[in-house]
Parts: sequence; C-alpha cells; structure tokens
Amino acid sequence: MKISNKTLLVALVALLTAGLFVVTSQAIGGDDDEEDGGTIIFTQPVKAVVFEHSIHMDMGLECDSCHDDLFEMAAGTAEENDDFTMKSLYEGKYCGACHDGDTAFASNTRCTSCHIGVKGYERMNGGGEKKEGGHH
Ligand code: HEC
Ligand code: HEC
Ligand code: HEC
Repeated sequence: MKISNKTLLVALVALLTAGLFVVTSQAIGGDDDEEDGGTIIFTQPVKAVVFEHSIHMDMGLECDSCHDDLFEMAAGTAEENDDFTMKSLYEGKYCGACHDGDTAFASNTRCTSCHIGVKGYERMNGGGEKKEGGHH
C-alpha cells in the first residue's frame, strides 16, 4: 500500500501534538509548586529564634536535607524536646547539622542572625498586637 504525503503529515502532526501534551503535563506536574513551611519562629526555651524556609530553599537545599531526620514537618515539634539547646547545636544536632562553620555559618557565631529576641518576635507578629498563635 502506498502511503500518501497527506497521511504522513497527519501522523506527524498527531505525534507532535502528543509530544507537546506530554511535555506540558510534566511541567504542570513538576515539584516547583510544592509548599514549604514558611517562616517558623521558635519561642522555647528562649524567645525568639527565626527559621525561614525561603532562605534555605534559595540555597538549593532539598526538603529531605531537613525532613524528617532533623525536623518534623510540624512547627512546634523540636521545641517540645528538652535538648533543643545550643549544646545540641554545637554537637551537630538540629540546626547544628549544617550550622557548624562548614556547610553554613557556625552556631557559636552571629547569634543575632538566628536570635531575633522578644522585639524581633513582636515585630514579626504585628507589633505584638495580634494574639499569639492566631492564624484566623
Ligand atoms: C534547612 C532545613 C529545612 C528544609 C530544607 C526544609 N524545612 Fe521544612 N521545616 C524546617 C524546620 C526547622 C521546621 C520546624 C520544625 C519544628 O518546629 O519542629 C519545618 C517545618 C515545616 C513544615 C510545618 C510548618 C508548620 O507551620 O507547621 C512544613 C509543612 C515544612 N517544613 C515543609 C517543607 C518542605 C515542603 C520543604 C521542601 C520544599 C522543606 N520544609 C524544607 C526545616 C526545613
Ligand atoms: C541542611 C542544612 C541547614 C540546616 C539544618 C539549617 N540551616 Fe540555616 N542555613 C543553611 C545554609 C547553607 C545557609 C546559607 C549559608 C550561610 O549563611 O552560611 C543558612 C543560613 C541561615 C541563616 C542566615 C540567613 C541570612 O539572612 O543570612 C539563618 C538565620 C539560619 N540559616 C537559621 C537556621 C536555623 C534557626 C536553623 C534550625 C532551625 C537552620 N538554619 C538549619 C543551612 C542549614
Ligand atoms: C543557627 C542558629 C543559631 C545561632 C547562630 C545561635 N543560636 Fe542560640 N538557639 C538556636 C535555637 C534553634 C535555639 C532553641 C530554640 C529557642 O530557644 O527558641 C537556641 C537557644 C539558645 C539558648 C537557650 C537554650 C540554651 O542553650 O541555653 C541560648 C541561651 C542561646 N541560644 C544563646 C545563643 C548565643 C549566645 C549565640 C551566639 C554565640 C547563639 N545562641 C547562636 C539557634 C541559634
């Protein structure tokens, strides 16, 4: 059977369309739209320490650099542990897994990069006028 140019053209267009569709659906299904945990402010044992996902994601870290070995995906979990202290950080636990002067600045330097204090806490919570923990 002789295959006409028209038949070939139709087949080509069909293939291209299918190909484009696959590419498009991959773009939509990509992991760029995954939600990170936003800004976390620790208030135990001292008020307050800030952790920003955006800064850490911009450094090219993957979610599993921290989850779930170092931290649970639930704000307030680490704070429930008695060992959420500088001693643990210096021993390489929690933030100290990276903030060791190697992967990131050391935990025994630049205290105020992490520690924003009571004033910083109030500033980030709308001047302290908002109720604590009020999301709604
Ligand atoms: C550099 C470390 C780090 C990386 C990387 C990281 N997280 Fe987190 N994430 C944390 C910390 C710290 C907490 C707070 C845990 C706690 O309070 O015990 C947290 C909490 C969360 C929470 C809970 C937020 C809430 O309000 O309860 C979610 C959701 C989350 N992360 C998602 C992600 C996702 C998704 C990614 C990747 C896109 C990611 N995280 C990457 C450190 C990280
Ligand atoms: C998986 C590695 C990793 C973990 C875990 C991690 N960080 Fe970081 N962090 C980084 C890197 C990398 C940078 C950027 C390099 C630098 O500043 O030395 C950074 C930068 C920062 C900065 C500086 C932001 C700025 O404006 O310069 C702060 C503050 C910070 N981290 C706080 C924390 C706190 C608090 C924790 C624990 C709750 C934590 N990080 C856990 C890797 C990590
Ligand atoms: C990489 C971030 C980071 C840096 C840098 C850092 N801290 Fe901390 N610090 C924390 C976290 C996280 C906690 C536990 C959460 C909280 O108390 O809110 C903490 C808790 C503390 C506590 C209470 C618990 C304890 O260990 O007694 C003190 C005091 C403290 N830090 C002092 C300091 C001093 C002083 C420096 C500078 C020499 C410093 N921190 C640098 C993250 C940091």
